Amino acid sequence: MDYTKQLTGFLDNCLTGTNFSNLGERYKGKVRDCYVQEEHSSALLRTCGTQRILVTTDRQSAFDQVLGLIPCKGQALNQLAVWWFDKTKDIVDNHLKDVPDPNVMVCKNVKTFPIEMVIRGYMTGSTSTSVWTVYNNGDREYCGNVLPEGMKKNEPFAEPIITPTTKDEEHDEKISPKEIVEQGLATQEQWDELERITRALFARGQEIAGKGGLILVDTKYEFGIDGEGGIVLIDEIHTPDSSRFWVADTYEKRFLAGEEPENFDKEFLRLWYRGKCDPYKDPLPKMPDEFRVQVAQRYIDAYEKLTRKEFEFPKIDEDIIKRIEGNLEGYVV
Ligand SMILES: Nc1ncnc2c1ncn2[C@@H]1O[C@H](COP(=O)(O)OP(=O)(O)OP(=O)(O)O)[C@@H](O)[C@H]1O
Ligand SMILES: [Mg+2]
Repeated sequence: MDYTKQLTGFLDNCLTGTNFSNLGERYKGKVRDCYVQEEHSSALLRTCGTQRILVTTDRQSAFDQVLGLIPCKGQALNQLAVWWFDKTKDIVDNHLKDVPDPNVMVCKNVKTFPIEMVIRGYMTGSTSTSVWTVYNNGDREYCGNVLPEGMKKNEPFAEPIITPTTKDEEHDEKISPKEIVEQGLATQEQWDELERITRALFARGQEIAGKGGLILVDTKYEFGIDGEGGIVLIDEIHTPDSSRFWVADTYEKRFLAGEEPENFDKEFLRLWYRGKCDPYKDPLPKMPDEFRVQVAQRYIDAYEKLTRKEFEFPKIDEDIIKRIEGNLEGYVV
């Protein structure tokens, strides 16, 4: 569905951020505002740890920085992640406990593994650390994976490869499973389990994306450990921020013609910036309004294609921060 008109109406009503003082300790990620507080529930007779309220804002990040605001993006991301958590909960426990607002998840707060589990089904990418860039430069080893000769850009791997990175404040670095265990970031047993879960989640993601006419090309997962030592999927899952999606219908024809696939992810945005500057070196240009609407449209398209549900816009003049505040009244500490 074409939402250009609605989205234009939201250009000046984006969720920049929140600064609630009564929800616990505040941490600001690039995209999410987090509030960490004691876990409290009337059904619990004892405190079981902490919980994390994740408010997904409309901030757009890429190239390790925040670039601007995309109308309704926070809601689309949050609701898509919530939807996927439900579709994968039989594979692994996840952190989600409650969705009190379209932009908010209340989650179990857990000790995180300081790594990102990246899994890739295709030889692609454009950043300096992406598998295609590295392969095209002649390297045949990537995060412990040996890559076969003769692969073309955007070709599928015989089997998805896992290419973990460290989780760093500044810039995530590639790391191999061997180094992860040697550096004590996970035990061998935990790594084996993380790998098994990552593969199962990715297979589920590919299967479901296929039903919506999309290819889940690659993605990243974050995991933590709960009080009992169990592995928990956290953060977000299979959103256009954490994943690449291509249009399935046109993929093969375009691949054979040597053309780039049609995408529904952040690559659109990355390519726009690359056409204008060197994004890791130069100051980044401001996104024009028309472009912000196009990016928003893609986030909502991805939501609708994957969930096969219609995106429900907020009321046009709604004060989003006030709405969130009202919906979080039950979580004030
Ligand atoms: N259940 C959880 N327990 C502990 N930490 C969590 C949990 N879920 C998410 N997090 C952390 O909360 C933060 C979410 O914020 P956000 O996604 O904006 O961070 P970011 O990683 O800085 O941004 P980007 O995604 O652009 O790299 C991340 O650091 C994520 O690891
Ligand atoms: Mg994140």
